[in-house]
Amino acid sequence: MESVIEVRGLNKSYKLPSETIDVLKDVNLAVEKDRIYFIKGLSGSGKSTLLRILGAIDTDYSGEIFFDGKNIKKLNKREISLMRQKMIGFVFQDFHLLGKLSALENVVLPALFADRHYKSIRERAQWLLGRLGLEGVASHSVNKLSRGEKQRVAFARALINSPSVVLCDEPTASLDEKNTQILFDLVGELRAEKPFTLIVVVHAVKLKPDYIVRVQDKKVEVTCEV
Ligand SMILES: Nc1ncnc2c1ncn2[C@@H]1O[C@H](COP(=O)(O)OP(=O)(O)OP(=O)(O)O)[C@@H](O)[C@H]1O
Ligand SMILES: [Mg+2]
Repeated sequence: MESVIEVRGLNKSYKLPSETIDVLKDVNLAVEKDRIYFIKGLSGSGKSTLLRILGAIDTDYSGEIFFDGKNIKKLNKREISLMRQKMIGFVFQDFHLLGKLSALENVVLPALFADRHYKSIRERAQWLLGRLGLEGVASHSVNKLSRGEKQRVAFARALINSPSVVLCDEPTASLDEKNTQILFDLVGELRAEKPFTLIVVVHAVKLKPDYIVRVQDKKVEVTCEV
């Protein structure tokens, strides 16, 4: 099976003035194309750290990560950001939305950088927001939205460029059961149209993964769910 992301001998530490925190040690992982992965583990075990590295958001680590066969360490900043625009959708645990912009503007923004036709971007953004039950707040500034609404805006933004890999850090943590279902129904529908790899840090959702990635004691272990 073709790997879309391959991790070899990954070590990640955070260096603080007083100490160094080792979070991941000698992690090896092959992420197969178009599969669904759940990342699980205790709070503080390193799930978000791993996700940011897999999404090429954090490149400060030792070891090697290959994305679509390309060694991320060998790419310059511009090449990494182009790759992220084209291939990666990322939902941060704390959303990272631009608070003063509207929901719609936040969703549209990554597509503007990708140099696409504005009318079609706007239509897709409106469609995504509508599917997530946000048509009524599309023009509201993000600062005014509830946490659950922000979470859905962040999700729509991650999908705007139809990425081949979508990484989500607890995308349903602020959602009720109905909106969680709506979000995963949308994921199912989009994946049926055009498959993509989905990597989700998750506690409990109804979607069935192909693999579980467990982060524990600085190590990563992959198990098959099927
Ligand atoms: N920027 C940072 N600087 C220093 N330490 C950090 C930083 N980010 C994370 N850490 C530390 O790294 C460890 C792993 O953090 P991480 O956020 O990856 O955990 P997590 O599994 O996502 O936790 P949670 O389930 O609570 O979101 C924690 O001990 C955390 O304190
Ligand atoms: Mg986290």
